[in-house]
Amino acid sequence: MKELNGKHILLGVTGGIAAYKSADLVRRLRDAGAEVRVVLSSAAARFVTPLTFRALSGHPVPTELFEPEAGSAMGHIELARWADAILIAPATAHTIARLAHGLADDLLATICLASSAPLALAPAMNRQMWCNEATRSNIELLRERGVHLLGPIEGNQACGENGPGRMLEPEQLVRRLTGLFIPPYLAGVRVMVTAGPTLEDIDPVRYLGNRSSGKMGYAVATAAQQAGAEVVLISGVSSLPWPDRMECIDVRSAIEMHEAVMQRVPRCDIFIAAAAVADYRPQQQSKQKIKKDLSHLKLELVRNPDILADVCALTNGPFCVGFAAETERVAEYAQAKLDGKRADMIAVNRVGLPGSGFESDENMLEILWPGGGTTLPRSTKPEIARQLVELIGQRYKQTRK
Ligand code: C5P
Repeated sequence: MKELNGKHILLGVTGGIAAYKSADLVRRLRDAGAEVRVVLSSAAARFVTPLTFRALSGHPVPTELFEPEAGSAMGHIELARWADAILIAPATAHTIARLAHGLADDLLATICLASSAPLALAPAMNRQMWCNEATRSNIELLRERGVHLLGPIEGNQACGENGPGRMLEPEQLVRRLTGLFIPPYLAGVRVMVTAGPTLEDIDPVRYLGNRSSGKMGYAVATAAQQAGAEVVLISGVSSLPWPDRMECIDVRSAIEMHEAVMQRVPRCDIFIAAAAVADYRPQQQSKQKIKKDLSHLKLELVRNPDILADVCALTNGPFCVGFAAETERVAEYAQAKLDGKRADMIAVNRVGLPGSGFESDENMLEILWPGGGTTLPRSTKPEIARQLVELIGQRYKQTRK
């Protein structure tokens, strides 16, 4: 199973320079399991060719309402019915204006009028055009009608300016689109997630670290946000971009992570400890770089606080989920961790298997809770995270009744 397995996504591409990114978007939508059909506006077809999208989607790419060879492609009504969601990326100011006013003057606009599927727009335009009163009120009209606005973000623009109006990156668009299919079963629930490694400084240039990439924790935070939760992500050093629409706090060491968690956790309903917290830190951090003039160097380590155990021990604390990485006797060790930390759920990564854990894009989890358990078979980390968060939501609701 993948995030968009079997979903029919109609991708509309309109005439902005960001259209070149839509080719990558098709690939990513298909990688996420979606079936994609692309419709280009005639302006888009001047930036990118139908042939590119035909090759990437595996389907004919119509551009005109009245195609001379319409027999080979679906008509506008068939496409409108076929779509589970319509995404227009990039959506130009002109297209936004046409949609706001219900015009049906080309194939894409006609499909949008004829479809009852959710409509998502990824605006992309010069910052002045985005800020123009006309665009503002068109966007407001569409928002009131339930159209989903994905972005834009601020940044460098193709016109050389800098400001709002830049299209979200394809990866973010796939994530946001996936969210449209998830019912908001965690609405009103506050979730805190820890993610990534903690780094324990030895001196100003060296540290003790671990191989956690943060991918699983970030995917869990995103899945909780997509299920409607209000999310705080507390992350160790990671190269991943911060997920949108949540509060993100970056920390370095276990002590910093502990402090950030304990300060905010009283306001949380669910705590998910996905971080790979270092168990030990150097007893002393040298203020200066340690020189190599000694033949032996002894590093004294002291225990770090156990963040998950401290949160589990709080009276009236949140529903607590821990992670574990085991190479053997998974069920036995997981049970011991569940009991030892008094957690409400433990998700176990089987490490040492090819294609799961740490830097991998895939994972599988054994889940355990008092009196039960299940297995989430190998899948992408976003999909595993979606299933895990769904389970957490169910258990949370059962135990808090
Ligand atoms: O004790 P162990 O490291 O095996 O447990 C792993 C779980 O505990 C993970 O959920 C991890 O985020 C959490 N943990 C923690 N603070 C520590 C060590 C682990 O929150 N100091």
